Amino acid sequence: MKSNLSSVKSNPGSNDGIQIGWNAPANIALIKYWGKHGNQLPDNASLSISLDKTSTTTFLSLQKKNGSPNDITLEYFFHGEKFEKFEHKIAQFLTTLTPEMPFLLDYGLSFQSTNNFPHSAGIASSASSMAAIALCLVSIEELITGNARTKEEYFRRASCIARLGSGSASRSVYGGLVSWGNSPVLPLSSDQFASRFTLHSESRLHRVRDIILIVSSSEKKLSSRDGHSLMRSHPYRKGRKIQVANNLKALTEAIAIDNYREIAAISENEALSLHALLMTSQADGLLLQPDTLHIIREIRQFRESSGLDLFFTIDAGPNVHLIHYEDQQEQVLAFVKKKLLPYCENGQYLDDQSGEGPKLVINQFND
Ligand code: DP6
Repeated sequence: MKSNLSSVKSNPGSNDGIQIGWNAPANIALIKYWGKHGNQLPDNASLSISLDKTSTTTFLSLQKKNGSPNDITLEYFFHGEKFEKFEHKIAQFLTTLTPEMPFLLDYGLSFQSTNNFPHSAGIASSASSMAAIALCLVSIEELITGNARTKEEYFRRASCIARLGSGSASRSVYGGLVSWGNSPVLPLSSDQFASRFTLHSESRLHRVRDIILIVSSSEKKLSSRDGHSLMRSHPYRKGRKIQVANNLKALTEAIAIDNYREIAAISENEALSLHALLMTSQADGLLLQPDTLHIIREIRQFRESSGLDLFFTIDAGPNVHLIHYEDQQEQVLAFVKKKLLPYCENGQYLDDQSGEGPKLVINQFND
């Protein structure tokens, strides 16, 4: 099977105006990627769920440059406004890609990006942004070089490119459960790119819901990038490697037999371990807030009293993801509204679910 672009007219000789658009999801990791080395290679394998609504749509337009093609020329707009901080980051990223994508120097690149979730939520998803950019770049690469890849090769390449922009973005080029990083418990796994994690047909994890409880929408005081680098000299580095390998193995076994309690326990352990590592690092890594802890306590109490299958996970910030199954959605939402929204900033939350993965939005080739 060929990639999405194979059906489109490709005319490498006269690509004056090209536009491509991809929508890519955010993802939430159950097994956390924390620490990296080399060229964006993870210190451990991770496993995440790609979301549905929480996503980024990016359009990339290219115009052939007249001048000498020595530098990357680009502009980046976010919700219609120039976003210079990110523009700078993307320029650096694309510069590192020019040895393998030399055509990037021949064009003026214009990115128009929007997030499908409110700005006010403060969830800056580098995963969805970088994945959308990577998908656009690989599509353009196919058009310009005229080399259509198979669908599998296409997404693998996009995952590799996304990884170079942001590690977790490598997982956002697929839907459902996705793993990234080499591990003996993940067949055909690689540090270079992510892969779909295969669930058995009856698994309840095919469709899960994620309510994202916004405890704070402020910008994080510690970027993930800085957080990862703290792991290089972390006193618990060795222990973390052993712990995360055990957690991943136990989680894959629990998923295989639908052992919900175990899935919940491991996922919560991973989230709290991430924060324990942050808090015990050589930086101010206290990113949890009092309301985060109130929410955790409420979730655990409600789980005990209701017997429902819900659990939390948290990324490197104060906001809480409440993961639960679709068939219990009504009861969980009622609980959220009654007990958790008082701990959320302005009562904000996002109601999302696992998604199918990225979507090609536009593919236009003007000659
Ligand atoms: C805590 O992918 O944002 O969300 O590779 O430096 O861009 P960079 O880091 P990033 O790290 C995400 C860390 C995490 C856990 C996870 O998503 O696995």
